[in-house]
Amino acid sequence: MKEWYEKIRSANSVEDLENIRISIFGKKGILAEQFEKMKAVPNEEKASFAKELNTHKGELTSLFNEQKIIIQTKELQEAMKAEAIDVSLFSTTSRKGALHPVMETMDRIVEYFSSMNFSVETGPMVEDDFHNFEALNLPKYHPARDMQDTFYFKDEMLLRTHTSPVQIRTMLHTKPPIRMIAPGAVFRRDYDLTHTPMFHQVEGLLVDETGKVSFANLKYILEDFLKYMFGDVEVRFRPSFFPFTEPSAEADISCIFCKGEGCRVCSHTGWLEVLGCGIVDPNVFKAVDYEDVSGYAFGLGVERFAMLIHHIGDLRSLFEGDVRLLEQFQ
Ligand code: PHE
Repeated sequence: MKEWYEKIRSANSVEDLENIRISIFGKKGILAEQFEKMKAVPNEEKASFAKELNTHKGELTSLFNEQKIIIQTKELQEAMKAEAIDVSLFSTTSRKGALHPVMETMDRIVEYFSSMNFSVETGPMVEDDFHNFEALNLPKYHPARDMQDTFYFKDEMLLRTHTSPVQIRTMLHTKPPIRMIAPGAVFRRDYDLTHTPMFHQVEGLLVDETGKVSFANLKYILEDFLKYMFGDVEVRFRPSFFPFTEPSAEADISCIFCKGEGCRVCSHTGWLEVLGCGIVDPNVFKAVDYEDVSGYAFGLGVERFAMLIHHIGDLRSLFEGDVRLLEQFQ
């Protein structure tokens, strides 16, 4: 009998155990065999023989049940291990999308000015001559129109060359004071390393009562904004010209690549030109029937910012839709 206890203990699988069950407890198993032998046992020994046999039967049964649980647990654990799914494995088929670097940069710019309580305004991309030029102090045949190579349609319609017409539209339907930005696509006939026929600008305009808006206000917010975008940079303002502002200036930041030492990106000047700005020309206010107001305005190219922030050499690569480039901005 002893060897059967051993056999049960050493069973390794459910299958093993099932064979052992049949050979012990089955119809032709050893227990049946032993009970069969009882017939030949003398009457006076029958009781003790049967008692011993029943004890064995009881012990074998409980040992068998214990072993069954041990094996089942072990097999279940092995199966779970074998069938486990590694949820941390990378899939080879799906690619993660990301915001286009131009849109991401635009979002950051909008975020800054929204936090300064500027409202976000929009306008049409197909504009008329009045909003894009005339009202912005750019009369017909004015040489300054050449600054912006324009795509024309019939009937004095055109693709807007800047976001400044949104200033005009906003002033025409809102009373001062105004504090707005206008992000959006603009169009010019231009195509090289740093120019594409479509690009994005963010326009800014602030208008309040005469005497309430100064160049110092403009300098302050633009300096703060440029530091928000580019980190710890120096900002300088250079006199410039725009027909719709007087005085006008261009803002430069100290080169973020060479820290002002002079390098290829800043053409060895130590400075990077980043935006245009100025005090709104009185002729612009005249065109929208605003009286007794003063204001400042600024405009910047979003692609230029994105190129500087991400160190992109060729502007055109931003619009070729090559996923190998775009994937780098995740
Ligand atoms: N509209 C100008 C441009 O496209 C930028 C600008 C806007 C300059 C507002 C001054 C004030 O170049």
